[in-house]
Amino acid sequence: MTLQRTFIMVKPDGVKRGLIGEIVKRFEQKGFQLLKAELMVIEKEKAELHYMEHKEKPFFGELVDFITSGPVFAMVWEGENIIQVSRLMIGSTSPESAAPGTIRGDFANSKQENIVHGSDSIVSAEREIANLFEPLLTRFSNQNLPY
Ligand code: PPS
Repeated sequence: MTLQRTFIMVKPDGVKRGLIGEIVKRFEQKGFQLLKAELMVIEKEKAELHYMEHKEKPFFGELVDFITSGPVFAMVWEGENIIQVSRLMIGSTSPESAAPGTIRGDFANSKQENIVHGSDSIVSAEREIANLFEPLLTRFSNQNLPY
């Protein structure tokens, strides 16, 4: 088993729809531990960094505009294999593939307005946490974890 930390974010549509509690509840019920959370509006530059792996995609501009369009609820969670497990809990990006029981399967019907984001790898988690929670770098660095 591998203890990991990851970055989970309720996107502007999820905040507007009042789904913060629902999403926090699902991760708590799974046995994961919330380490840090903040309601924040992401600056454009930080949003571009957050989504840098999609820079060349045709929807990049729209994605940055959307994620900066209102408050998000940004969180750091810890748990066993949380990166892979949280992605399963979130569900597929495509509405037609997002299984019922997953967050997107239950609440989303759009590739963009899909309620929640979760890091897809340890490298992404570290970068995304550092981008939006700078003070966490020293206190909650993944470097202290056994992998
Ligand atoms: S891709 O193309 O397979 O790499 O895309 P994916 O990894 O599934 O999604 C990456 C993030 O981009 C968002 N997305 C989109 N936004 C707007 N328009 C379109 N067509 C679109 N397709 C994907 C998607 O919600 C993902 O956001 P995050 O926050 O990473 O989940």
